[in-house]
Amino acid sequence: MRNTRIFCISIFCLILCLNSTRAQKPVYLNVDESIEKRVEQALSLLTLEEKVAMCHAQSKFSSKGVPRLGIPEIWTDDGPHGVREEVYWDKWEGAGWTNDSCTAFPALTCLSASFNPTMALEYGKAIGEEARYRNKTVLLGPGVNIYRTPLNGRNFEYMGEDPYLSSRMVVPYIQGVQQNGVAACVKHFALNNQEIERMSINVKLSDRALYEIYLPAFKAAVQEGKAWSIMGSYNKFRGEYCCHNDLLLNRILKDEWKFDGVVISDWGGVHNTDQAVKNGLDLEMGTSTNGLTTDGTTPYSEYYLATPYLQGLKSGKYTEALLNDKVRRILRLIFRTTMSANRPFGRFVSPEHSETARKIAEEGIVLLKNAKQFLPIIVGKYTKIAVIGENATRSLVIGGGSSSLKVAYEVSPLNGLISKYGKNRIVYSKGYLSGDNDYKKVVSSKLNTDSLRNVAVDVAKNADVVLFVGGLNKNHLQDSEGADRKSMDLPFDQDELITALLKVNKNVVVILNTGNAVSMPWINDVSAIVQSWYLGSEAGNAIANVLSGEVNPSGKLPFSFPKKLEDNAAIAFGNISYPGVDNNEEYKDDILVGYRWFDTKKIKPLFPFGYGLSYTTFSYGKITTDKRIYSSEDTIRISFTLKNSGKIDGAEVAQLYVSQPNASVLRPVKELKAFKKVFLKAGEVQTVEMVIKAQDMAFYNEKTKSWTLETGEFVMRNASSATDLKSSVSIQIK
Ligand code: BGC
Repeated sequence: MRNTRIFCISIFCLILCLNSTRAQKPVYLNVDESIEKRVEQALSLLTLEEKVAMCHAQSKFSSKGVPRLGIPEIWTDDGPHGVREEVYWDKWEGAGWTNDSCTAFPALTCLSASFNPTMALEYGKAIGEEARYRNKTVLLGPGVNIYRTPLNGRNFEYMGEDPYLSSRMVVPYIQGVQQNGVAACVKHFALNNQEIERMSINVKLSDRALYEIYLPAFKAAVQEGKAWSIMGSYNKFRGEYCCHNDLLLNRILKDEWKFDGVVISDWGGVHNTDQAVKNGLDLEMGTSTNGLTTDGTTPYSEYYLATPYLQGLKSGKYTEALLNDKVRRILRLIFRTTMSANRPFGRFVSPEHSETARKIAEEGIVLLKNAKQFLPIIVGKYTKIAVIGENATRSLVIGGGSSSLKVAYEVSPLNGLISKYGKNRIVYSKGYLSGDNDYKKVVSSKLNTDSLRNVAVDVAKNADVVLFVGGLNKNHLQDSEGADRKSMDLPFDQDELITALLKVNKNVVVILNTGNAVSMPWINDVSAIVQSWYLGSEAGNAIANVLSGEVNPSGKLPFSFPKKLEDNAAIAFGNISYPGVDNNEEYKDDILVGYRWFDTKKIKPLFPFGYGLSYTTFSYGKITTDKRIYSSEDTIRISFTLKNSGKIDGAEVAQLYVSQPNASVLRPVKELKAFKKVFLKAGEVQTVEMVIKAQDMAFYNEKTKSWTLETGEFVMRNASSATDLKSSVSIQIK
């Protein structure tokens, strides 16, 4: 009896004890509570000073937490192709850590060229794991600005010219990153479609172009990808800087799309306290208050959202309610990431990440030309292979601006080819040199171009085949942040070099590393052309696997290659349309971006959007739909057969384009509405099924300021590229 009483008393004490520990644990630290409850409680504990301190940077890449409450700092890092090295507190310069060399994944143009959302998920997962391992809260990427001209220095960081393709690829990337308890930061919102005058250019365009072309990928990132943060862009839109643009941030992003994450400024993209407070910015990042590039101890307290904000709050100029909205968002991000109980631990430079990087590279490489089935070059076929060109050995992960990476390793094309074909069969000659990488200026090579070319021509003369590895690089005025290219031509006299090589050897394969379209005066004379982007750590292995036929290429172009620069829509309207006049730019190309322009104006591109060859062939069956007449709320089921009609296994990206022939407004001749990458064994046939909503065919109505789906005829076409249409079916919306 006595024992039972003692036992009961002990249990009672234990329960009391547990309850009191629970009661003492503040809600914000209780991982079993909902994020919203934790946010509210944490907010209630903060002083005005602590709240303001969370709204601006404390170092180059971090912002303050609340030390006394154990709320951690936010650590951001670029993005989007690998996790950037650690830099000094106040400098862009690498801090010399020895544990921060990452895996470089292929550039986003390559990812997009895979037309495979599963690859985007794998990409996101892997880069998210690397960011998590490095203790980053926010990964500064992915980028989804639309490819408007082939000159934009940052196209390589984006997903091409089509809003639908970019939307489908960005969503899984974000989901993959965020599974790791690391926030993706989608950039650059919005209309940062050129680097020339990026800090000041004022973009004007119609609402229709805004909603139909430039916003969909951001909207998908927010609503489907559920991105936890977004980065404002440097440029202005309708007179207001995008980092504090009322229409973009308050009305569209936060009100219309219900974005509940953090709006982060681009680095040094804030210009005004009043607008930063009121127009939707939450977190101001940058180097100093007056811009991007100043290094040295920076008065973070002088940021627009620092002391000036605090003073304004104290004087009653700004309301605490608005500040609370910003801090809630920042806390929400912290609870979703660093303070989440479910946050995994990540991993860094794992063999699986290399595998992912290689797979994406292989799926993104686009075979542009293959005369008389010149490729693949089976191992053992040739005894002497000349590899010519600087990009065969140059690091292509370094440079380009903020996406520059310090990598654990990078397999160059030359090394990849040597491992594949054997050292004794390969002879290498540089052929041209581009000079050192400098973010702000061109540093030309001091070596003599003629002698480099002569040596390469001699090497080519005695070879069975020439693999020319060239293109652009990440130097200033190439594919690089802060400036655009000057023309579409290949730089560093490569056209002359290729022509000279062709004079002594007719078996020339051109392998291009670029994130942009280039002109190709030698196109008719070379045997094959391979578009191989910037492929990251596994570049050489992926290229060698495709050239040798171990991998059958299946990438498709995520943007059109024009025959000449003037064929591009933005350029066609003169300086006011690109690059702008007196800091003003009007998107006169409106909704006719990329293939929408080529189609409508009946201009033949050099290579169309969605184009890419394979070592096998595919034949398409006739397209059919489940019905002929649909209501505006219906779902449309499309199907057709696809056969691998060749002798080897391969994958085809089947595309669905939709047209509205009798619309009340101008509509592009056709628009991509679905695609599917289908892997088929030689001889295999599959039925491809695609589903779209009737509403997906709507246009943005300027008059009603809403999406309108008209009744009447719509035509669906299955296609292998934007110019290779296979069959069509006509349906009615009633
Ligand atoms: C770029 C951003 C980048 C940031 C931080 C800016 O110059 O525009 O894309 O994330 O720097 O490096």
